[in-house]
Amino acid sequence: MRALDITENDDVLAVTGSGCRALSLVVNNPHTVTSIDSSPGQTYLLELKLAAIRHFSYDTLLEFLGVDESTSRWRLFEELKPHLSDGAVAYFTRYRKAIVGGVLLAGRHEQLYVRLVAPAMKLLYGRAMRDLFAATDLATQRRIYRGRVDGVLWRTMIRHGFTERTLKAVLNDDSYNVVTDEKSCGDYVLERLDHTFENHLAGENDWVSFMFHGRYPRRDVLPHYLLRENVEAIRAATTKVNVVRGDLMERLRALPDGSVDKFSLSDVTSCIDRDQFATLMKEVVRVARPGARICYRNFLSRHTPAADLRQLLHREDELCAQLYFDDYAFVYQFEIYTVGADQR
Ligand SMILES: C[S@@+](CC[C@H](N)C(=O)[O-])C[C@H]1O[C@@H](n2cnc3c(N)ncnc32)[C@H](O)[C@@H]1O
Repeated sequence: MRALDITENDDVLAVTGSGCRALSLVVNNPHTVTSIDSSPGQTYLLELKLAAIRHFSYDTLLEFLGVDESTSRWRLFEELKPHLSDGAVAYFTRYRKAIVGGVLLAGRHEQLYVRLVAPAMKLLYGRAMRDLFAATDLATQRRIYRGRVDGVLWRTMIRHGFTERTLKAVLNDDSYNVVTDEKSCGDYVLERLDHTFENHLAGENDWVSFMFHGRYPRRDVLPHYLLRENVEAIRAATTKVNVVRGDLMERLRALPDGSVDKFSLSDVTSCIDRDQFATLMKEVVRVARPGARICYRNFLSRHTPAADLRQLLHREDELCAQLYFDDYAFVYQFEIYTVGADQR
């Protein structure tokens, strides 16, 4: 949100991912949000979340998605069916278990934390983690982290647990063309974990809370789009939300010149190779309106625009550094560009 500064006249293009970020973009009531993903699951998930936000009360929404306990999620899904496409109904009927267990906990990535990371953390660092998440100032948190968590066991687990191999096993999608520029995935994740525990209060960080508990323990510490005021803003927005399943590069090629104001490309950079990235940026610059903003995030890759495009783009260095520091999803490096007004 800070990278893109969305206003009511904006036409926004997003990569869908889990749909969370695409929904956050609606909070500022832009003119349109077109959200694209090649994966049917991600596409139906965004459709489901949007329909649930529009249809359910706030309490029922949190129950349905999996923040709160529930034994009635399938009944709620039945209630939601008239507001969903046939494709989404068929998809979630096939993945009934994901609905019944709460879709927020059902993803492959999330299941890693629910089944493995959170139980292991409880076993090994139960009391230290409880105190760390209860800390209300950074000095106390740092003391707990350095004194009672950080040590040989912690460092060995992170270094050997977060390898490219484990990540590939978790993501399990052969169509991803992963580029890795970081020397060691484990060392990088460890460095970023140190950063987040040194600089962000864990108890206020929805992502870290989820990683270490396998659920969202606090109602006021949720992903941005699920906070009460943002759910209300999404409901009230007049934004036309287009949920599109397809290849990002193909979709971009079909768009006219100068038709998009803001690009939220997520870490799609984690799934594409250098050639695909070059094509992506060329098309993004072509369809960008003068003054448009582009934001993408790098995890293990360090994709940057080609030299010829650089002349048309202004990199927002200070904002990139600040968001890399501030972001609660602490592993992503931000790339933010403003498209020059005289590009055409
Ligand atoms: C790593 S995930 C993003 C998750 C991240 N937490 C977020 O910000 O939403 C990247 C997404 O890009 C999608 N994707 C990858 N390559 C794509 C392509 N060529 N066209 C469209 N979507 C693509 C994947 O299906 C996935 O949902």
